[in-house]
This record gives sequence, structure tokens and C-alpha cells, in this order.
Amino acid sequence: MVIPMKIRIPATSANIGSGFDSLGLALNMYNYVWMEEQEGVEIISLDDTPVPTDKSNLIYQSAQYLYDLCGRRLPGLKIKQLNNIPMARGLGSSSACIVAGLLGANRLLNSPLSTDDLVNIAAVKEGHPDNSTPAILGGLVTAVLDGGKVYKVKQEIMQHMRFAAFIPDFELKTEVARHALPREIAHKDGAYNLARAALMSVSLYSGHFENLRVAAGDKLHQPYRLQYITGASEVFGLSYDLGAYATYISGAGSTLMSIISDQNSGEFEEKARKALDGMGLDKWRIEVLDIDNSGTKVTAS
Ligand code: HSE
Repeated sequence: MVIPMKIRIPATSANIGSGFDSLGLALNMYNYVWMEEQEGVEIISLDDTPVPTDKSNLIYQSAQYLYDLCGRRLPGLKIKQLNNIPMARGLGSSSACIVAGLLGANRLLNSPLSTDDLVNIAAVKEGHPDNSTPAILGGLVTAVLDGGKVYKVKQEIMQHMRFAAFIPDFELKTEVARHALPREIAHKDGAYNLARAALMSVSLYSGHFENLRVAAGDKLHQPYRLQYITGASEVFGLSYDLGAYATYISGAGSTLMSIISDQNSGEFEEKARKALDGMGLDKWRIEVLDIDNSGTKVTAS
């Protein structure tokens, strides 16, 4: 009997300012994918997000990749996808597709690969580990991809904070945002980020909120990417005026993420909404999210 799999994959927020290609965390905004083997390809989007409906679909491609890796023939797949993570906004939508394809296929094959194997494969496919690893494991992840293997620590975050995502109405493709980066940087800029990334990782985990604004400081990617996010400097300004602990470009953008207190997140959202509207940024969405400590869940549906 063919048992369909249901996969729930969290959104992620990578870099967290200073931790370029290394730090990332999972959030409680989810894509859902239903996947089952069948002859031929059938792919359905359950919302109004247009998705490729042939073998070029990233979920399908990732599943095919895993079948090939395991030496198994993929007859075809029926895939239904519900896309809550907006595309090309720095919230891990493509890594969610890669993770769904890999973990769904692994389960369809009765789990020949371990979670660590899947973490490694997903990071190699994505090119960096800071979205795919928290998407699989959940929590706050500090990760290094070295020689095809991810060296990582996942920490469950229980601290009193929330994440206000300022989501613009425009996309920013990761290729474009990476192309904007310089090939070389000054030694002092490397040292600047190194210290702050270490501070970010441990301060988020331990709840030292007073460190977060300095820890989010970055000279490796954000200064080069801000040009693509019209309205970013205003949003940075308003978020700090409203008491954000830290604000940074989520992943490669275009979303800006504020880490805020869980005590007054409703008030923060209300005031931020009014401020955005007043600045002509009325098409931006604000989503106040929490950490997801569980990562991707695969169940027989
Ligand atoms: N670390 C990556 C980047 C995240 O900033 O380009 C986007 O996938």
C-alpha cells in the first residue's frame, strides 16, 4: 500500500546579522507538503503561489536526488504543497522545498539515511548550512559546512523573546543578494563579525538581550544588500525606536527581522503597523513569530 507522507517545514531566519552563513533559527511559520509515490508527476499548489508542476519543481528534484543517492528508482510523485513561507524574502522558502523533498523521500524509502546525513545533504545542496540545518532541527543553530559535513550545535530557545518579521512586497533573489558581496574584505571587518557572531549565538541562548543590538552588527553582507531593500533604513529606525533588541536582514533579504520582548509584542506590532503605513510602506506585512524548537515533522497522513 502506498502511504502518503505529510511534511511540515518551518521558516528560518539565517545570518542573524553577524553570523553570515553560520547562524540560523527556525520560526513557527510553516509550509506543508503531502507526498506519495505514483507513476508520473502530479504537483499541486494548494494556495495561489505559482509552483513548477513538472520535474523542475525543487521538492521533486530534491526527492529525486535522494532516491538516486540511495540507488532506488523513483517512479514519480504526487506532491501537494501549501506555501505559507513567502518566496525569495529571506525566510528559507527554497531550503523548505529542499528539506521537504529530502526528508519526505527518505521516509518513503523507510528512512535509510540518518538525520545527520540529511542535514549534510541539505546543506551541500543549498550551499550553506544556516537555513537548511535549523529547518530540519529547529531551534537556534550554529553551523559550519566543512568538506561536505555540517558541524553544528542546535540549542532550544526558551527565552522571552519574539521575532517581528517585516516582509516587503518585493522579492530579493539570493543569487542577486550574494552577487552584491565583495570578493575580499578587510581583516578588521572579519574580526568585527567574528566577535559579534560569537556574542549573538551565546546571548540568544542565554537571554542576554542587552547584547543583541551590538551582536547583530555586521560588515560582511548587510551594508552591501541594503541597496536592494527600499525602506530598510526607515524600518531599522522605527524598530529601534519601538524598543527592538536587535534588527537585521533575515537571510539574504528582503525581510527585516526584529528580535523583540514577548511582554509587549502586540503593542510593538500595532505601532510598527501604523509607522509603516505612515511611511508609505503599507504593502509590507508584519508577522510576529516564535521560535520553533522542533524542526521538520514527517508523518504518515
Ligand atoms: N547565508 C545566506 C546568505 C542565507 O546570506 O546568502 C541565504 O540563503
